[in-house]
Amino acid sequence: MPIRSATAIAHPNIALIKYWGNLDDEWTIPSANSLSMTLGELFTKIHLIADEQLECDLLMIDGALAPPAAQARVSQFLDYVRVYSGKALFCRIESSSNFPRGSGIASSAAAFAALALASAKVFGLPTDPQELSRLARLGSGSACRSIYGGFVEWIGGQDHQSSYAIPIAPPQHWALVDCVCVISTAHKSVSSREGHRLAKTSPLQPCRVQSAPQRLEICRRAILERDFEQLAQVVELDSNLMHSVMMTSQPPLFYWQAETFVVMEEVRRWRSEGEAVCYTIDAGPNVHVLTLAECAQKIQDRLSHLSGVQEVIVAPVGGPAVFVEDEKPA
Ligand code: DP6
Repeated sequence: MPIRSATAIAHPNIALIKYWGNLDDEWTIPSANSLSMTLGELFTKIHLIADEQLECDLLMIDGALAPPAAQARVSQFLDYVRVYSGKALFCRIESSSNFPRGSGIASSAAAFAALALASAKVFGLPTDPQELSRLARLGSGSACRSIYGGFVEWIGGQDHQSSYAIPIAPPQHWALVDCVCVISTAHKSVSSREGHRLAKTSPLQPCRVQSAPQRLEICRRAILERDFEQLAQVVELDSNLMHSVMMTSQPPLFYWQAETFVVMEEVRRWRSEGEAVCYTIDAGPNVHVLTLAECAQKIQDRLSHLSGVQEVIVAPVGGPAVFVEDEKPA
């Protein structure tokens, strides 16, 4: 009897070398390679049930019916799965996460990585990591990196076949920790998806894209050699460059708030005093502060005392997306 349901979990990831802008928006083929660290302890679980009685897909998030935009995005992803598998089945998708939405931790990466696993199993598509990475990318670009644990590179490629992520070092390679400073949980006014489309309107984007391979190589070397100072320099530079592109797009995107800048300044000051810390910021005001595991408690304490920081969520390096036992019968 064919499998009718599957459950999978995946972790979010934080980009150390950012993905911002596509060669091809429809197929999510990025303008440059990117590199991330998978975040452990935080996860999204997807339970997917294919149901012949359904006339459309139904997405539930934390037990409640998801808003129309989220429904449409998941349905669009499942359209690819239906085309590839040749099976015209609609699904009920139950999603739950153990980290707050709007916390500055990209929930779409974990959700679409887990959805790629669950849907591949239910629809009989290949479940090797490279194929899952390609599939996850169709849901959310950064999701292709969350298929793997540890430190991961997304090979941008030129088309669907050549665009997927690969692991560059396992989770245990280097005990880094991400202390996520939550400054605002308000829903971002411009989505990453829209931001990627706007990237090409910035006069700075060609320069950022052209110099990205060099930064990625420095970052890769810093990780492989566990060189925190090198990592800090290149991670902050890459984040600043992405935000420079955002701020000079038309219309401009300003994701930072005053408190964002306060955290950046403090982190730079602590590093100048000898602490192993650096910042990186995604498409929102919250600041990801990277440090070494042995310093994490001290850095978390310091960050939580800064004015404007509502909460500090701490995540070590995490593992790959995995299948878990179904909790409910299909
Ligand atoms: C700033 O992967 O969220 O976090 O493909 O539209 O889902 P979509 O975009 P998404 O963009 C991530 C942007 C970023 C940088 C990164 O994670 O590399």
